[in-house]
This record gives sequence, structure tokens and C-alpha cells, in this order.
Amino acid sequence: MSTAESILSMEHLASLCKRRGFIFQSSEIYGGINGFWDYGPLGCELKRNIRDAWWQDMVRDREDVVGLDCSIIMHPRIWEASGHVGGFTDPMIDCRGCKKRFRADQLFEELGLKPAESTKVEEKFKVPEGTKCPACGSKELTEPRAFNLMFKTFVGPLQDESSVAYLRPETSQGIFAQFGNVLATSRQKVPFGIAQIGKAFRNEINPRNYTFRSREFEQMELEFFIKPGTDQEWHNYWVAERIKWYQSIGLPKESITQYVYDKAELAHYASACVDIMYAFPFGIQELEGIAARGNFDLSRHQEFSGKSMEYFNQETNEKFIPHVVEPSAGVDRIALALLCNAYHEEWIPKDGPAIPAEPGKQPPEGFEARTVMRFAPRVAPIKVAVFPLLKNKPELVDKSRALFNTLRRHWPCFYDQTGAIGRRYRRQDEIGTPFCVTVDFDTLQDNTVTLRERDSMKQIRIPIDQLETELLARMG
Ligand code: GAP
Repeated sequence: MSTAESILSMEHLASLCKRRGFIFQSSEIYGGINGFWDYGPLGCELKRNIRDAWWQDMVRDREDVVGLDCSIIMHPRIWEASGHVGGFTDPMIDCRGCKKRFRADQLFEELGLKPAESTKVEEKFKVPEGTKCPACGSKELTEPRAFNLMFKTFVGPLQDESSVAYLRPETSQGIFAQFGNVLATSRQKVPFGIAQIGKAFRNEINPRNYTFRSREFEQMELEFFIKPGTDQEWHNYWVAERIKWYQSIGLPKESITQYVYDKAELAHYASACVDIMYAFPFGIQELEGIAARGNFDLSRHQEFSGKSMEYFNQETNEKFIPHVVEPSAGVDRIALALLCNAYHEEWIPKDGPAIPAEPGKQPPEGFEARTVMRFAPRVAPIKVAVFPLLKNKPELVDKSRALFNTLRRHWPCFYDQTGAIGRRYRRQDEIGTPFCVTVDFDTLQDNTVTLRERDSMKQIRIPIDQLETELLARMG
């Protein structure tokens, strides 16, 4: 059953995420702050696993990609060169009645209005006379205006125009600005890539859909520099690679689609763009954009900084400004997609396989309800839980703790000795731990343990000295 067909509602998921320590509202004790989220003990492990999987596959496993870690605040000229100061805007409409602020395109969608064919915000999203605010019903909607999404700050003690700086709205511009230094120090040759993971900030007019559109989020971006004219083949290559990657972290093939931009939708400098989309419960939405951006960014930085961004190919004596293909993904959106995909409510009979629970209903006689997060082991926050069968038997506790201490050297593990064993399994199911190991009285006799797999709930008996090898094989 795919996520779209499942009983998942975002309320259920948000409630589990809060209850079990995946995601909390930022500044909750002060009433929260819109568009900002905190990741709890399990959420930060999940995010770390996403970053690690990306870094492993995009940087460490490749000889043609190197990493970079730039500052969040950079010289403000970077954002002039990139076009963000002048053009990184969303169209905005206010209601003078209730003071609610709308993103114009979302308001038009909500009201069933069609934007006019114009590149000017004021014409494109001009609301027809008499249009009512969907929140309060008043007819006092303002003219649309462009709102710049960059967060402004000041560097140093003076707070005037000369000290204005911006929190980066994307990580990629740091990569372009450091292109020359990386090229000079890394011994890479075109084609090669520079990768960066880090925070980005956008003052979104209307943050929504839980963490999907936030004001502070994290990006994982690769700028892959190529010879002009090879754009299409490298773009195709990266789209295929990135789709495979989503499957490697456990998102099913059928939940991922591509949105291929028409020529008319592309920025003037881009030759291709594909968004990788996931079927969230609130609709099919973007996880990552993969754009062939020509040499727009490097050329602009060359123009604005006066520093050459040219690449010299010693073998062919050619000089050129490299073109770039940019796969740009969001950690938080991927975390949300993994959480949505993992969430399942089931009814389990005494014997036999589980069946999907029916929304809002109690399980039938003889069935037990369970919530299970079916994370792929690669991204599961906790990989193995270790239990002694009984907590008041020191020999079981000692053996379990020794095993726990051995396993935690390799994987994030959890030790739990409280409650009935069935309840302990359920607790681990609910946080998505793929494997549980139980130490019981037989263990003391024959040095075997019970290894239980989360999804099938199947248990096998296995010698302790084979456990690490078995777990390693099952981690995938
Ligand atoms: N350098 C290209 C760039 O930034 P983008 O499509 O604006 O492109 C790339 O952003 C990715 O960053 C998106 O696909 C999404 O995963 C993530 N992202 C963008 N805005 C976001 C937001 N407000 N909240 C969460 N993630 C966001």
C-alpha cells in the first residue's frame, strides 16, 4: 500500500513525531514561531543519516566530487551577482481587513482565479474588483507586490545600509564563489563537482505543510562543473543517479515522480530542469530540483568580482567558463518524505501477517493494533534495540548490557529493560527500529539470542558470535 492510499494524516504523523521525539515546534514554550522546527533525539539521528547517506554517495564514493563548508553569511555582493537581491521574490497580497498575508499564487489557487499572462507581478496577480478575503470575507485585498525572501542582518556594530548582509537563501552560491580556490587546491579537472550541506534561510510568506516549507531549512547541493555542450548528457546522468539514490534510502519507486520543465518555464540561462517529486499526503511535491544552469553563476561572479572563473584545459589548450548541472535537495523535505513513507498503522492477528488498520476503527476481535515506522535500516534513527527478558535477573541484565555495549560501537542502539517484552517491541516498532535482540534464560545456557525483525515480526534464534555478521548483512 502506498503512502497516498494509506490512512496517514499529517495530524497523526505530527502527533507521533512529537510524542516520540522526532520533531518539536521551535520555541514551543513561548507559543512557537511560525516556519521554524526543532528535531528531537530521533529526528536529529534521522537527519544525520540522510546527510551521511548523501555525503557517502555523492562525495566519498566518487573521485570526481569534493566537499566544501562555507559560512552562512557571505559578502552581500554575492547575492547581487546571483540575482537574489534583485529578483528572489514571491508575489504577496495583504488583507487590510484581517491583516492576513497571502502568497499571491496560493491565494489565486485557493480562490480558483487564473493569473494573467504577464511577467509583472502587479499585472499577473491583480485581484478582480470585489474579491473577498478567504479568511475574513472583507473585500479589502491589496495590490500584489514582490516580497524579497532573504533574511537581512547587519555585520558589526553599525546598523546602516553599509553593514547589511543576508542569511544565505541557498548553499550553492558559496560553491560558485569558492570555485577558483577549490579548483586550485583539489587537483580536480572538469568534469568535477563541489558538494555542500548546510542551513539555508528564506522568509517564506506562508510556511506550511508541517516542515515542508520552513523559514530555516537545510540543503544538500552539488554543483557539477562540465564542458559547455555536454549539459544534456550530464543532466540526464544526474537525474537518473538522484532517482536511484531516493530508492537507496527507502522511498519506493512508485512514490517518486519527475516534473520536467517546459522550455517556457525555464530561466533564460537554463537548458533543462527536472524536479524530483514525492507523493506526500498533502499532494505531489518537490524534494529536489536538478537544473542545467549553463555558466550563468560563474559568469556573473566573474563580472561582479572581477576575478576570472575560467578553466584552462592543459590537454587541449582550451579556456572556458564551465557550465554546471545542479542537483539541489532539501534535508528536511527528505526527512518528511521518509517519515510519511514509514508511517503505518496495522492490525496484527495472533498468527499470520498484519493487515492495514481501518481509519478511526478499533481492531477486530483477536487483533492487536500497532503503529510501525518502516524506515529502511540505512536511515532508521536506532538500528538495534537490546532487551533482557527480565530486569530483575542480574545475569540477564549483565549479558544484555555487554551485548549492547558491543553493538553500539557499530550502530546507534537502544537498551530497554522496562515493561513486558511485547510492549518493548511495540515501542521500538513505533520509532522504526528494524531489529530487536532479546537475551533470555536460554542465552545463559547456549549463548544464543532472539533476533526479531520489525516489519515481518519474525524471530530467529542466533548464536551471539554470529549476530554482528547477521545484522550487517540485514542492514542493506
Ligand atoms: N540552488 C538551487 C535552489 O536552492 P530550490 O529549488 O529553491 O533550488 C532546492 O531549493 C531544495 O531546497 C528544494 O527542492 C527543497 O528540497 C529545499 N527547499 C527550498 N525551499 C525550502 C523551504 N522553504 N523549506 C524546506 N525546504 C526547502
